[in-house]
Amino acid sequence: MAWVLEANGAVEGSAWLPAPAAALPGAAEVHVWRASLDQAVPRVGALLETLQPDERERAARFRFEDDRNRFIAARGILRDILARALGSTPGAVRFVYGPWGKPALAEPAAGDLQFNLSHSGGLALYALTCGRAVGIDVERIRPEVMREGIARRFFSPREVAALERLPEAERCAGFFRCWTRKEAYVKATGRGLLLPLDSFDVSLAPGEPAALLGTRPDPAEACRWSLMHLEPGNGWVGALAVEGHGLRLRCFEWAPADSPA
Ligand SMILES: CC(C)(COP(=O)(O)OP(=O)(O)OC[C@H]1O[C@@H](n2cnc3c(N)ncnc32)[C@H](O)[C@@H]1OP(=O)(O)O)[C@@H](O)C(=O)NCCC(=O)NCCS
Repeated sequence: MAWVLEANGAVEGSAWLPAPAAALPGAAEVHVWRASLDQAVPRVGALLETLQPDERERAARFRFEDDRNRFIAARGILRDILARALGSTPGAVRFVYGPWGKPALAEPAAGDLQFNLSHSGGLALYALTCGRAVGIDVERIRPEVMREGIARRFFSPREVAALERLPEAERCAGFFRCWTRKEAYVKATGRGLLLPLDSFDVSLAPGEPAALLGTRPDPAEACRWSLMHLEPGNGWVGALAVEGHGLRLRCFEWAPADSPA
């Protein structure tokens, strides 16, 4: 079995656990945090205080205030979540970036903590795990994005065929399941879109477990990864890709440490 799920039904999106004050994932655990990026202005101000100068410069480059505030929230909340895992403070967390832009912790951390994040609209998902690569993706379901040309451009022939086999009413959901699973995997490898999107196949049919079905040129690569379907809220779909198998998934709803439980 690829995943051991918490009995709280966390992946269904209705029972995300309250944010713990401290939480370092165990060796066979993956933590997924969900957060709204539409935070009140004073909260955005407090999160901005925790950002490093390069992140403030990035924030300042956003033309629209809403986009700027969401970026600040996404980074500030990432820092808060990592600080809880590390027993540190948000402002003390330092990042380095991989050759294709994947952020990682600058200092070796307890348990070799790894993370990834994704945001879409006003929602962010964060994945944390120890000693294994991880990637996460969330997309707001936008039926207008789902066009045959897009699928043919970004999906593998096997995925396009699987999508075309779905009844019309299932196609939009199948499209976004495929999209998020592909994104989560390329983000886990750290290569982003430099990994050719037709060099691997993911599952997408309803009821079929999330999985990396095939990888090219090395077919053994597919066996190294677990994929997980996530339902972070009505109108969004998400996916998680992690190295290894038999992992326990725990899902948390972010809230500031100073908010009443
Ligand atoms: C950058 C990319 C890795 C993800 O982009 P995205 O889906 O637009 O954005 P997401 O919100 O999911 O992820 C962005 C976050 O991923 C992280 N990230 C950046 N580069 C990364 C990389 N190479 N690997 C993993 N994570 C990366 C960053 O933390 C970034 O957020 P931040 O800079 O605000 O902190 C890349 O895959 C991309 O450009 N995708 C474009 C989407 C597309 O065309 N998809 C094809 C359909 S399958």
